[in-house]
Amino acid sequence: MTENFSNIKIPTNEVINEATEILLKDGLVAFPTETVYGLGADATSKTAIFSIYQLKNRPKINPLICHVASKEMAYRYSIETEISNLLVNAFWPGPLTLILNQKNNSGISKLVTAELDSIAMRYPKNKIFEKIINRLDKPIAAPSANISGNISPTTPMHVFEEFNNKIKLIIDGGETEKGIESTVVDARGRNPIILRHGPITAEMIENKIKCKVLLGTENSSIESPGQLLKHYSPKKNIIINSMEYDEQSCFLGFKNIMPDSNFKGIALNLSINGDLNEAATNLFKMLRILDKSNSKNIIVAPIPNKGVGIAINDKLMRASLQNE
Ligand code: TXA
Ligand code: MG
Repeated sequence: MTENFSNIKIPTNEVINEATEILLKDGLVAFPTETVYGLGADATSKTAIFSIYQLKNRPKINPLICHVASKEMAYRYSIETEISNLLVNAFWPGPLTLILNQKNNSGISKLVTAELDSIAMRYPKNKIFEKIINRLDKPIAAPSANISGNISPTTPMHVFEEFNNKIKLIIDGGETEKGIESTVVDARGRNPIILRHGPITAEMIENKIKCKVLLGTENSSIESPGQLLKHYSPKKNIIINSMEYDEQSCFLGFKNIMPDSNFKGIALNLSINGDLNEAATNLFKMLRILDKSNSKNIIVAPIPNKGVGIAINDKLMRASLQNE
């Protein structure tokens, strides 16, 4: 069967109009953000949000992030706090999602928030996405554009691999810059609580807003319903924190930790210079490549557990749990 990529389009004015039209008619559009590609819909449309859950095969208990194009738009639907104001001023637009209390009768579909009183808000740093949110003048609810549990997409082709032509429009914004999903922070209390590690680290937050950052309990189903333990699953066995490879393996290295020249399998390097931000950008893309190889296992070198390395290790740990 020949594949038809005609739904992948570069964002001309015409395509931006088309995206807005689709969203106004309760349809879905895949968008680039600075983190990963999202599968977006009008956050106030029950019909559209329902189809996101269906298409992704996503559990209904896992709420979606509302993407906004200003602080004002966020506070139309959510209740600001001292901490949220500090975080918004320091990091928006950017890869930071805030959990806040939702305003009464916000108009946001209950499916978006999984009927919680809270709501997740993010102002992404991407001009195309921002333009479309402004056109709609409503938040766009968007999870990562992958089947639930699969590796998140960082290119338009990854989105196509997940959904083929089931999405009418995939906006081509090239490869995403950060490569991993936004940091999720509960901003309702006196201290920010990290519920999902991402490109904005606890250290960055503490340095900017001079306030102690707490870490959410790993598997608290109440705090962060979407942090299901098993996630980002490649089809192959993934063995983390290892330097032991054999004939049946391919290898994902970091810095100078790579197989020797006798190794016949595929070996990729997350960052030859040992740059953790570069490693994050490459992580999902390289896992997808290795997942398509003929090897039985993917061996991943140890990644320093500091800075963005904490988010990388968290994702690798979830990915490695696939067969347990
Ligand atoms: O970078 C990102 O965040 C990407 C791009 C597209 O913006 N989006 C993304 O969405 O990663 P998703 O659906 O894959 O992950 C959203 C996370 C889940 O872990 C979900 O449980 C959590 O946000 N979340 C959403 N609403 C929440 C709430 N009210 N309370 C706690 N966690 C919430
Ligand atoms: Mg996701």
